Amino acid sequence: MKAIIYHKYGSPDVLELKEIEKPTPKDNEVLVKIHAASVNAYDWHLLRADPFLVRLMGGGLLKPKNQILGADIAGRVEVVGRKVKQFQPGDEVFGDISGCGSGGFAEYVSVPENALALKPANITFEEAAAVPMAAVTALQGLRDKGQIQPGQKVLINGASGGVGTFAVQIAKSFGAEVTGVCSTKKLEMVRSIGADQVIDYTQEDFTQNEQRYDLILAANGYHSLSDYKRALSPKGIYVATGGSMAQIFQAMLLGPWVSMAGSKKMGALSAKPNQKDLVFMKELLEAGKAVPVIDRRYTLSEAADALRYLGEGHARGKVVITLEHNNKT
Ligand SMILES: NC(=O)c1ccc[n+]([C@@H]2O[C@H](COP(=O)([O-])OP(=O)(O)OC[C@H]3O[C@@H](n4cnc5c(N)ncnc54)[C@H](OP(=O)(O)O)[C@@H]3O)[C@@H](O)[C@H]2O)c1
Repeated sequence: MKAIIYHKYGSPDVLELKEIEKPTPKDNEVLVKIHAASVNAYDWHLLRADPFLVRLMGGGLLKPKNQILGADIAGRVEVVGRKVKQFQPGDEVFGDISGCGSGGFAEYVSVPENALALKPANITFEEAAAVPMAAVTALQGLRDKGQIQPGQKVLINGASGGVGTFAVQIAKSFGAEVTGVCSTKKLEMVRSIGADQVIDYTQEDFTQNEQRYDLILAANGYHSLSDYKRALSPKGIYVATGGSMAQIFQAMLLGPWVSMAGSKKMGALSAKPNQKDLVFMKELLEAGKAVPVIDRRYTLSEAADALRYLGEGHARGKVVITLEHNNKT
C-alpha cells in the first residue's frame, strides 16, 4: 500500500510517499481502507517535534516513534480481527486514531475497534474525516470542562479553524448565545455556521470591551490569563484548548490558582479521543446540527503541501486528504 512516511523530525520536506506492506489486523483490530484523512495541528507538532515536549510525551526522543502521521480517518472496514464485535467488513467508519499510534496518511490502517464509530450516514468520507479530533476537542472543552448551559453567553476565540468551526456549532446546539472571534475575511463564514455575533480580532480586542461571557473557549490566538479573566462573568469558565504555547501553559499552570482564589474557573483541556464522543458527534451531524467546514482538499501524494498549508495557521475550517483509491470506488 502507499503511505506517507517520515524517519526524522523536520519540515514537510522530510515526508516521503512509499510503498509499504499492508497491515494485518490483530484479534481486536479492524483493517480500514482509508478514503479520507484530515490534517491537524497535532500532526504538524509531531512532524517537527515542536514543541520539544512532543519527544518526551511519546513522540520518540531522537526520531519519530510512529512513522506515519494522520490522526483523523474515515473509510471502510475491510477485514475484522477474531475478537471484533462492533464492526463487519463493508461498514463505513470514522475516528481519531492518535491514541493508537496514528497512521492515517496511508491507504490502509489497522486499529482497535474502540477507536472507531460508524460514519454519519448523511456526510461524505471527506466530511467525516474532518470531524474526530477537532470536534471532540470542542465538545469536551465546552461540555465537560466548560459545563455549557442553554442561554449562556459563550465566546469562541479562533472560531474559524478546525476546532473553532465545530465549537461554534456545538455551542449553538447546546442552546448558547455564541460570539465567534476571527479575522475579517472569515467573519461571514463564522456567521454562516451559526454565530450570533462575530468579532474581528484585527479591529477589536474583546477582552478590553464591556461585554462579559459565561464561557470562553480559547481555540487559537493569544490573550493573557488576566485579560481572559476580565472578560468572564462572575461565575464564568475559561477553557484553553489551543493557541499559542504561552496561552496553554498559562492556563495549565496558573489556571488552577486563579480558580481556587475566586468564583471564576480557568484551565486547559487535553482532549481524549473516545468512542462515546464520536457517537455523540455522529448523532449531531446526522441531526443536521453541525456541518464540517472544509477548506482545502489534497491527494495523499500532496500530504506535505497539506501540512505546509495547515502550518501557516490560517485554515478556514479543516484541511482534508482524499485517498486516490477513493476515486475508483
Ligand atoms: N487541547 C487539545 O487536546 C487539542 C486538540 C486539538 C487541537 N488543539 C490545538 O488547538 C489549536 C487549534 O486547532 P485547530 O485545529 O482549530 O487549528 P487550525 O484549524 O489550524 O486554526 C486555524 C485558525 O485559527 C485562526 N487564528 C489564527 N490566529 C488567530 C488569532 N490570533 N485569533 C483568533 N483566531 C486565530 C485562523 O483564523 P485567521 O486566519 O482568521 O487568523 C484560522 O482560521 C491548535 O493550537 C492545536 O494544537 C488542542
